[in-house]
Amino acid sequence: MATQPLNSVILHLLLLASGGGTASAARVFTFNNSCSHTVWPGTLSGNGAAVLGGGGFEMPANTVVAFQAPAGWSGRFWARTGCIFGTANGSGSCATGDCGGTLKCSAGGKTPATLAEFTLGRTEGDKDFYDVSLVDGYNIGVGVTAAGKAAEEGAAGDNCGYAGCVSDVNGRCPAELRVAGASGETVGCRSACEAFGGDQYCCTGPRSSPGTCGPTRYSQLFKTACPAAYSYAYDDSSSTRTCAAGADYLITFCPASISPAAG
Ligand SMILES: *[C@@H]1O[C@H](CO)[C@@H](O)[C@H](O)[C@H]1NC(C)=O
Ligand SMILES: *[C@@H]1O[C@H](CO)[C@@H](O)[C@H](O)[C@H]1NC(C)=O
Repeated sequence: MATQPLNSVILHLLLLASGGGTASAARVFTFNNSCSHTVWPGTLSGNGAAVLGGGGFEMPANTVVAFQAPAGWSGRFWARTGCIFGTANGSGSCATGDCGGTLKCSAGGKTPATLAEFTLGRTEGDKDFYDVSLVDGYNIGVGVTAAGKAAEEGAAGDNCGYAGCVSDVNGRCPAELRVAGASGETVGCRSACEAFGGDQYCCTGPRSSPGTCGPTRYSQLFKTACPAAYSYAYDDSSSTRTCAAGADYLITFCPASISPAAG
């Protein structure tokens, strides 16, 4: 799976950071749909973590919704676009990010889809890890910012800043990576790994280490639009953000005027 190296990195960091301590409080994930169209966020929990938002829900343009997540939660969010859900369960479909035709996802979304990935600390003294990933391609812009006391009081060395995009990738997606919607418009941009395969783009085989798998002209295109996101499997690890456990998070779809935090 394309995201495997990233997940391994996060797991490794998690093992390094784990320790004793009091359980940290529940957190709040706030979703803001700044797009000019409806999106249907999908949520997928890892490691048997609690299902958030029922697995998926509808968000009209310019709406905000919040969910609580327990300490230690890990999983991912993505936006589905162009969905029509029928009356029978599983009879729906989405132009991007479809999770099997159901509003409530119990599996990951169809690529390409921009992912927001989180691993929340379990106890006080732990750290949260989060990132926005284009390793599985791009459908719409996503931005993540940390909020609340823990984010403000970030310990030295925390990199508790903005993750995500500053501009639209679909508008500059090369023809060979483009995914077209029903009326021919570009609805998503595939990763070069998915489109072409091969060790160079997928960081596999002899290229399966950070030292042997560098950026390509395709990953650089993603990086330009989304400088604070993973553009390929072994992108600079500074694309992962860390906060002291206890922060809340704001996930914005189609973030508009963003001033990305340094780092
Ligand atoms: C949601 O996004 C809009 C547009 O970017 C912004 O005006 C609004 O303040 C945001 N709401 C929240 C709760 O962040
Ligand atoms: C709908 O389908 C999903 C996935 O197949 C399943 O997990 C869920 O239980 C179904 N829900 C209902 C209400 O049948």
